[in-house]
Amino acid sequence: MRKKIIAANWKMNLTHTEAESYFATFLSEIGQVVNDLEIVIIPAFTAIPALISASEKMPILRIGAQNMHWEKSGAFTGEVSAAMLRALYVKYVIVGHSERRTLFGETDEIVNRKVAAALEAGLRPIFCVGETLQERDGGQVEEVLRRQLSKGLAGVAQKDLLEIVVAYEPCWAIGTGRSATPAEAQQSHSFIRTVLSELFGSPAAERIRIQYGGSVKPENAEDLMRQKDIDGALVGGASLDPRSFAGIIWRTEAALA
Ligand code: 13P
Repeated sequence: MRKKIIAANWKMNLTHTEAESYFATFLSEIGQVVNDLEIVIIPAFTAIPALISASEKMPILRIGAQNMHWEKSGAFTGEVSAAMLRALYVKYVIVGHSERRTLFGETDEIVNRKVAAALEAGLRPIFCVGETLQERDGGQVEEVLRRQLSKGLAGVAQKDLLEIVVAYEPCWAIGTGRSATPAEAQQSHSFIRTVLSELFGSPAAERIRIQYGGSVKPENAEDLMRQKDIDGALVGGASLDPRSFAGIIWRTEAALA
């Protein structure tokens, strides 16, 4: 049984004071539920300390980071290391988000170095994959996913695979309001699990969690979360409002019932 993981990727939004008031509203919306879920909030670096202390009031909540550098330390102006995140008690780090790949030139090789560095430091990577619209229209979905998975996870030891959460985020569904349908998402998730099974063996592939991301909102969360191979959501825009993020969590609970 894979525990569902619902994560809020705030991207470059919300100051640390806005994060504190978000958290107060979120806590009152979410009440005491959700023992069978994992919830992660992934703010900008500057809001991490405030959320770490706020999250002591909510034991099932984890805090993540949106990016990191693969080197341990050194002359890398503007970068943050995995050890710096660990020192703040950060648990998860997003690696290979499509915005990093397309806007900041991250290649599969860079993503792979970050995955390795995160694991070495004891952080759990949320490793993102997904095709562009052009690649989908060109019938290349499987080829792209296979490449991103095999290159991004190259050298990962089988024992470490379950530290990783894979996020399937089709680029055409990110921030567009056009989510993949539950059937489209399920098809890609099932393919991802097949590739992981080829790379790491079937028992590990059956246990690894695969989140869906791309225009998830309270209205579509339940149907998505009912799919056999969808183990959670990575939510952008709809996670910026604590009520709508709480709504997604409630719909996920309903899907589990
Ligand atoms: P949206 O939910 O805004 O489409 O963003 C998805 C995403 O990129 C999460 O990482």
